[in-house]
Amino acid sequence: MLTPLSQADSQRLIALFKEVGYTETNLRSYLGSAELPSSQLRNQARLLDHTREATPLNALLRWFWLHIPQAEAASAPLFENWLLPLLVQCGLLRRDGDNLAPLAMLLPYDSFLVASDHPVAIERQESEMVLWPNPTSKFLSRFAVRRPSRATLDLGTGSGILSLGAARHSELVVATDLNPRAVAFTKFNASLNGVNCIEALVGDCFAPVAGRRFDLILSNPPFFITPETGYMFCENSMELDQLCRRLVKEAPAHLEEGGYMQMLCEWAQIEGQPWEDRIAEWLEGTGCDAWVMKGLTQNPTEYAQHRIRETAQDSSHDAELYQGYMSYYRKRGVQAIHDGLIVMRRRSAPNWVRIEEVPKTPTGDLGELVLSTFAAMDLVRAMENDEELLHARPRLSPHVRLEQICDQVDGHWHAQSLTLRLTSGFPFHMNIQPLVADFLATCDGSLTAEDAIHGFAALAQAPIETVRRECLAMLRKLIERGFILANPA
Ligand SMILES: C[S@@+](CC[C@H](N)C(=O)[O-])C[C@H]1O[C@@H](n2cnc3c(N)ncnc32)[C@H](O)[C@@H]1O
Repeated sequence: MLTPLSQADSQRLIALFKEVGYTETNLRSYLGSAELPSSQLRNQARLLDHTREATPLNALLRWFWLHIPQAEAASAPLFENWLLPLLVQCGLLRRDGDNLAPLAMLLPYDSFLVASDHPVAIERQESEMVLWPNPTSKFLSRFAVRRPSRATLDLGTGSGILSLGAARHSELVVATDLNPRAVAFTKFNASLNGVNCIEALVGDCFAPVAGRRFDLILSNPPFFITPETGYMFCENSMELDQLCRRLVKEAPAHLEEGGYMQMLCEWAQIEGQPWEDRIAEWLEGTGCDAWVMKGLTQNPTEYAQHRIRETAQDSSHDAELYQGYMSYYRKRGVQAIHDGLIVMRRRSAPNWVRIEEVPKTPTGDLGELVLSTFAAMDLVRAMENDEELLHARPRLSPHVRLEQICDQVDGHWHAQSLTLRLTSGFPFHMNIQPLVADFLATCDGSLTAEDAIHGFAALAQAPIETVRRECLAMLRKLIERGFILANPA
């Protein structure tokens, strides 16, 4: 187990790692790509050769990236004499005869240095392995709502990476995990990075925070839908996706009014059910507004193969494992497995739920996109009454572009399609008719929706009642997606 560092020790350790170039940017260029050693990638030989010279950076990489012991006598002259005793004292290194052997991996990420277990722990089938910052943690942290928070909960904290990020805008972060090793890593990482506002607790789901409420809850739970329960970091003992359902059902009791819960999850689609239905039931009666962004969908056969490749290193049992997975899915009528992000916001009012498949995730931080989408959904609900929307002054977002595709016909360009595209946030698009494009061009915030619709009806020479009904439905859809910004009357 790691022992948290004093402030003075963490400062000199972090300074030394920076000084020798053990940083995210430098490692990416120094190693060619910042990939971890992996038997699947077969990159160990390249990484060993790359770090063959006796330099401080190579010594640290061999311990904390490649996870190999090194002779103490050869390593000691590379560093000032305080470093190796400190690394042994805090538990990052262990004396093993003449060697110093690593007990953790150190990953520079988002200006933090993060200790976790090394991927070799999967090869050794260590069930309590603590996961390193990985694409799922990075994905969730990009969506995190970064408003000032009085108290944030990071449920299933692992290395504590989401807690470190949340500490930037939270007075207090409570990091919880069923795995006591994860809690120890989180305490260590908080000390290593000089973050003092993280309280780390061991326990199942919300049990460690009974009776407490938060402005923000983040969770990247062990959501794999498999018959296996070998690894705590990704598998769980509940049926199919029921752990995620339980977290959705229990979260509202721990949210302040207006507080957000953001959780990555996977859910099963059962034969005969549309994909939205199962997750819609999770959200029923929660007292929260919710936005579900569905990402990848896999059929059970590809999902099983993919998960077996990730968790079982020894391929000799693949056939047996695969049969086990498939009979588990067949018995339960699983037709597909979806992944996605659920965002809930507690609000004591009639709630809305939006469940959709989203296009490719944009780059950068997306917390503002979450907030603006919730605001747009609220606005549409506030203008449910047609009169209110008719008095609003719709304005096309500055991030909307209109694209025309033309074909050459008889020596002329002939317009085939018009597509409205969003160039910021999710790249939603919508095919529209030329007259609708003309109508939207008039939506610049100066006219009320009522006046713009009257202009459109005159142009289209169509009955005003029909045009009004269709335009209002379209405006609501465009506001929800961020194409139109509407100023209420
Ligand atoms: C996918 S890892 C996420 C780690 C980290 N939050 C991240 O994003 O990198 C899931 C974490 O949930 C923890 N966990 C598993 N079952 C749990 C439970 N019932 N209650 C709380 N935590 C749990 C695991 O030990 C693991 O650390």
